[in-house]
Amino acid sequence: MKNKRILLIIGGGIAAYKCLDLIRRLREFGAGVRVVMTRAAQEFITPLSVSALTNERVFTDLFDLDDEREIGHIRLSREADAIIVAPATADLIAKIAGGHANDLATSVLLASDKALLLAPAMNPRMWLNPATQRNVCQLEADGVRFVGPEEGEMAERGEAGPGRMAETSELISALEAMPGIAGSGKALLGSLSGKHVVITSGPTHEPIDPVRYIANRSSGKQGHAIAIAAQRAGAKVTLISGPVDLPDPSGVDTWHVETATEMKDAVAGALPADIAVFCAAVADWKVAEQVGQKIKKAKGAPSPTLKLVTNPDILKTVASLKSGRPKLVVGFAAETEKVIDHARAKLASKGCDLIVANDVSAATGVMGGDRNSVHLVTHDGEISWPEMSKDAVAAKLIDELALRLGDSKLAESTKKKRGQRRARAKPKKTKKVRKT
Ligand code: CTP
Repeated sequence: MKNKRILLIIGGGIAAYKCLDLIRRLREFGAGVRVVMTRAAQEFITPLSVSALTNERVFTDLFDLDDEREIGHIRLSREADAIIVAPATADLIAKIAGGHANDLATSVLLASDKALLLAPAMNPRMWLNPATQRNVCQLEADGVRFVGPEEGEMAERGEAGPGRMAETSELISALEAMPGIAGSGKALLGSLSGKHVVITSGPTHEPIDPVRYIANRSSGKQGHAIAIAAQRAGAKVTLISGPVDLPDPSGVDTWHVETATEMKDAVAGALPADIAVFCAAVADWKVAEQVGQKIKKAKGAPSPTLKLVTNPDILKTVASLKSGRPKLVVGFAAETEKVIDHARAKLASKGCDLIVANDVSAATGVMGGDRNSVHLVTHDGEISWPEMSKDAVAAKLIDELALRLGDSKLAESTKKKRGQRRARAKPKKTKKVRKT
């Protein structure tokens, strides 16, 4: 967050007061906060109290001549790294979805190409109304992110359900994951447009009999977050997911599989791709012989012994493809000790370009949790990222991969150009060298 510029648009709802805490926390993290308030927002908190916290004037009026002389609403968006609307009321959401620009807040948003986060807050019936849900779907399809609303008691007595604005910590986690905040500072939107990204996620289930299976604790949260980040960066995304308790990300082509063998076949069917990210916790073994009927406990008989055989290594198979290998093949290493050493060994043994290593010991709470702290292990060295939300890891990783893909394109063309220049200068020698 340090030195990032957040544009906060405060909408008119009772949750507007929570923005005071949000501003205070963002500033503690070193972010600069600029605020636009709608007319309705000013019924709940005053521009004076907001500007006391931001240390800047608060923008309220589209027709403020001083600002317009400096193309006010364009500048407000251009100078921000990310924009958050909180509380995003049903009316504001409808206006943004419809492309309205009849006040300063909506004009700023319509004129913006920056990453946008909405924190809805409204009465549960308004949130669940098909009109609001339609607008939310439209905005999600446009690449807008949402945080919340949460379930709970509303300010109105006796009202409960989904509609409470997310808490400050949630808003900050979601902001941390925004393109332009999490990544290199460049706007991510469109950085992978025209690219195909294949991602595996979640565990695999290896059947023992028709009712039992071998599994692991992977939740799929990190893999799904990467799929969402890649889609938001403009990529065509194929997500191949083992059994998880997560919704299919919108705008992502999600294929459901159960076993490692099914996952391997699905990956083969999804290629070619520019980038392949293998985030799934694939079961290393499967039961050698599956039985068609449920194994029964026979009285006095010994417990059954399971004979296991090794599953195909999907990452290794794809990384070693002679033709059609994705330009970037990324593996994950879930380790409980010597994280970097094991990851480096995996980088070599699997033949991939990058390993994202994480410590999954029980104490870290990574498996199934919402936060992660990872190390990027490449052939050039390691980078360790501080602990952050899995969404933030995903956004930062996609940003990193987009940059590396761009670099490899550059390197390839440089190599080609050098070759052409050499061929023009010394055609015979080049031919000879090629023959030997
Ligand atoms: N992987 C895979 N297919 C497998 C096993 C693993 O594609 N059959 C991928 C995972 O998706 C991950 C990487 O390989 O990207 C590392 O997986 P991990 O289970 O940590 O490593 P293993 O190779 O299984 O080694 P070990 O279990 O001994 O740590």
